[in-house]
Amino acid sequence: MTEPNRTLWTRRNLLKSSVAVSASAALPAWLKAGQLASGFRVNVTGTDSLRAHAVSRGLLYGAAVNPLLLDVDGLAAGSTADPYTQLVVSQANIVVAENAMKWSALRPTPGVFNFAPADRLLRFAALAGQRVRGHNLCWHEQLPDWFNTTATRDNARNLLVEHIQTVAGRYKGQLHSWDVVNEAVDPKDARPDGLRNSPWLGLIGPDYIELAFQTAAATDPGARLTYNDYGFELDTADQTAKRGYVMMLLRRLKARNIPIHAVGVQSHLKAEGPQPGVGLQTFIREVRKMGLDVYITELDVNTRGLEGGPEAQDYAVAQVYRNYLGLVLPEPNVPVALTWGITDAHTWLNESKDQWARREDGARQRPLPFDDDLQPVPAFAALRTAIDSSRPLVAAPAAAPAVDPNTLYKPFRVQGSPTTSTQSPLPPTPHVE
Ligand code: GLA
Repeated sequence: MTEPNRTLWTRRNLLKSSVAVSASAALPAWLKAGQLASGFRVNVTGTDSLRAHAVSRGLLYGAAVNPLLLDVDGLAAGSTADPYTQLVVSQANIVVAENAMKWSALRPTPGVFNFAPADRLLRFAALAGQRVRGHNLCWHEQLPDWFNTTATRDNARNLLVEHIQTVAGRYKGQLHSWDVVNEAVDPKDARPDGLRNSPWLGLIGPDYIELAFQTAAATDPGARLTYNDYGFELDTADQTAKRGYVMMLLRRLKARNIPIHAVGVQSHLKAEGPQPGVGLQTFIREVRKMGLDVYITELDVNTRGLEGGPEAQDYAVAQVYRNYLGLVLPEPNVPVALTWGITDAHTWLNESKDQWARREDGARQRPLPFDDDLQPVPAFAALRTAIDSSRPLVAAPAAAPAVDPNTLYKPFRVQGSPTTSTQSPLPPTPHVE
């Protein structure tokens, strides 16, 4: 769905928007006035892309994608005319499947795995010279329907271990990182350890987390193993408390010598605030002392509660990107940031029917660096500027290397697994800049 009559980000529109009026007196440097006068026009390709700028700072920038929307065959043939595919190739040097690696997507029945969409993402990323994050191996949501009737206290450990061995085994050596456990903490469940009363906790007990990490490490020792969660970014009482419980979990895992390398901070933020601040910064520094990285895994900005048209939304969203990434990216243990989608045309906020995901005025959300028409919005400039000011240059921005399908697309043997997938074998992951 495309917003009709999209207006350009002009100074006139900026002045008309309620949010922007107060801000117009001091336009931030990253929204250069010269650009605003003629609409928000900025070159986003080649050396101007997010990918080129991320590489030049030694960072990974990427996005969640739906593999079925990607023109993999076109890319394999040497070129693609599909604008979404071109956008993902040109802007990202890391990708993650929005849904294709979740239990419900991978396991239509207990004994059958459908790897086709996930394989497609691996093949795409290999052709595009991108890294891939795995998301996720253990979560209380998006479990297949059969799980409730099939999983028992007697078989749950085996089910989890076998799932991780099969899935992480299939992609062994191919992934940058795995979200091994997703969203295990929820203080609302009022347990002393802060853990969520999830099906996994009920069936296995709190040690299901250790079991998942140990199994993932034994299966794919090359992947960076991540604990991923949401709702602990802010300095509100609730989120500060949740941050404390996440820290308690991390300390528990470290004390038990469990292999864990990073914490994923999902970063689904709200334009109306409040915004992350010193609490998250302190957390990032604390986990660094524990030898852990922090990955920004699912950044987007919801403008529910914020009045004004698309320009006001864009300005507010961009401010959040700039301030948030300005806070976290300069930390040396934050080497990765992904947005949850790359274009407003494909974002869970516009797909969800939930009230909290929708705007009161019914307008579409604009939470990402590219709009419904795949045009850059001010969040693009905010993101690129935040990348540029995060750390010293390691190299001048360079265009992404041209893809030579002859050298990249070499099938390899896939390890045996109980799959019925008929997808052709995957290519190896090439060297990524
Ligand atoms: C969480 C999950 C993601 C995704 C989003 C909403 O953040 O980690 O996989 O499902 O919710 O889509």
